[in-house]
Parts: sequence; structure tokens; C-alpha cells
Amino acid sequence: MPNTIIAILGSNIFGGNADKLLQEAIHGAEDAGCTVERINAAHINIDPCMQTFGCMTESHCCVDNEAEKYYRMLKKADGIIIATPVMTYGIPGALKCFMDRCQPFYMAKYYRKQPFITKEHAKIRKMLFICIGGMSAEDIFIGPKLTAKAFADIIDAKYSDELLQNDMDRIVKIETKPEVLKAAYEKGFSLGRGIVEARNQN
Ligand SMILES: Cc1cc2nc3c(=O)[nH]c(=O)nc-3n(C[C@H](O)[C@H](O)[C@H](O)COP(=O)(O)O)c2cc1C
Repeated sequence: MPNTIIAILGSNIFGGNADKLLQEAIHGAEDAGCTVERINAAHINIDPCMQTFGCMTESHCCVDNEAEKYYRMLKKADGIIIATPVMTYGIPGALKCFMDRCQPFYMAKYYRKQPFITKEHAKIRKMLFICIGGMSAEDIFIGPKLTAKAFADIIDAKYSDELLQNDMDRIVKIETKPEVLKAAYEKGFSLGRGIVEARNQN
């Protein structure tokens, strides 16, 4: 369905700070006219990539679990929102596992030169990356951003916007930062509006 956004939560905590920011971004995207479907990466049945390299020749993954369902969701999406905490200077294992399992997109695009996403659709697809970390250091986002940008490239979505909030160990509750919640809503709205406008031009 056009104007569909897939929202992916990297935290395992429902109602936690990353989840709250994701909810705000989702509300923004919905207010802009998009339909949003969620994937809670820490609560799905996805095993790690086993490097069998079946996806060098096949368009599917030979590790048999829920992955195909999520490939279908990602293929149809016009936008992706990811909200995640920093863990060990990277992203949480479950979210990374999810991204690694998207290797069939990589092989289709770069190895077989038969991308899942058409050129026209790729022009529309955009990603908003929301990332929070406990430490006050600025460099905590280097690893997560590199991974998110690589993922965006693999699934053919433009890494178009980000919201980064460090110092969460001191802030504790994101509700005490209404300006950050507002920014999440506005960035979700802006992502959604851009998608709706691009679809209307087609
Ligand atoms: C296993 C683990 C590793 C973490 N590693 C980092 C880190 O390297 N840098 C950092 O700034 N925060 C780190 N944090 C803190 C989280 O990013 C922070 O608590 C965040 O607010 C959690 O968001 P959530 O409650 O929405 O899951 C880590 C937290 C956990 C549980």
C-alpha cells in the first residue's frame, strides 16, 4: 500500500525512552497521512545470519523463520523509522541481527544487480533514524549511525533525517525533555509529508 512506513524499535523495553520517541514519530507520520506498521526487533523470531550465502543465487533466505514476512514489509515500505538505544557503542544485538538478515537485499542489489526495489520506488523511500544513549559523550553515535546508513543503503532508502539524544543516564525520563519528544513528532511528520507529496507527484 502506498504511504506505508515501517517503524522498527531496537529497544526491548516497551514504554521506554526509545519507544516513546518512536511513538511520537509514528504519530507525526500518521498525521501526515501515512500508515505505520511496527516491528519490535527484540521480540520477533529472527535468528542471526548464518552466512550460507544462499541469497547470492536465490532471492530469499534459506534460514527458515519469520524473515520473509519482514522482507515483504520492507519491500513495500515508502519509509522506515528506526528508534534504538546505543548499546556498547553500537546498536542492540536483536536489531543488528534483524539488519544482518536483510542480506538478500544486499545480494540482489550489489551482487546479482537485480534490486528488489525499483529505481522509481527508491527515489521515494526515506529513513528517519532516532538514537539515544546513556553517556554524555558525542562519539556514542558514530557506530550506530554507520550501521543505520549502511542498512539504509542496502534496503534502498535514503538516510534522510536523524534525532540523536545522548546523556539519557542523567535525563532518565525523556518526558522531561518535551522539546525532544516534539522533535520526534516533527521529524516523523516531515518524513510522512515528504512521502505523501512524492507519491502524489507520481
Ligand atoms: C547492554 C547495554 C549497553 C549500553 N551501552 C551504552 C553505550 O555504549 N553508550 C551509551 O551511551 N549508552 C549505553 N547504554 C545505555 C542506553 O543507551 C540507555 O540507557 C538508553 O536510554 C536505553 O533506552 P531504552 O530505555 O529506551 O531501551 C547501554 C545500555 C545497555 C542495557
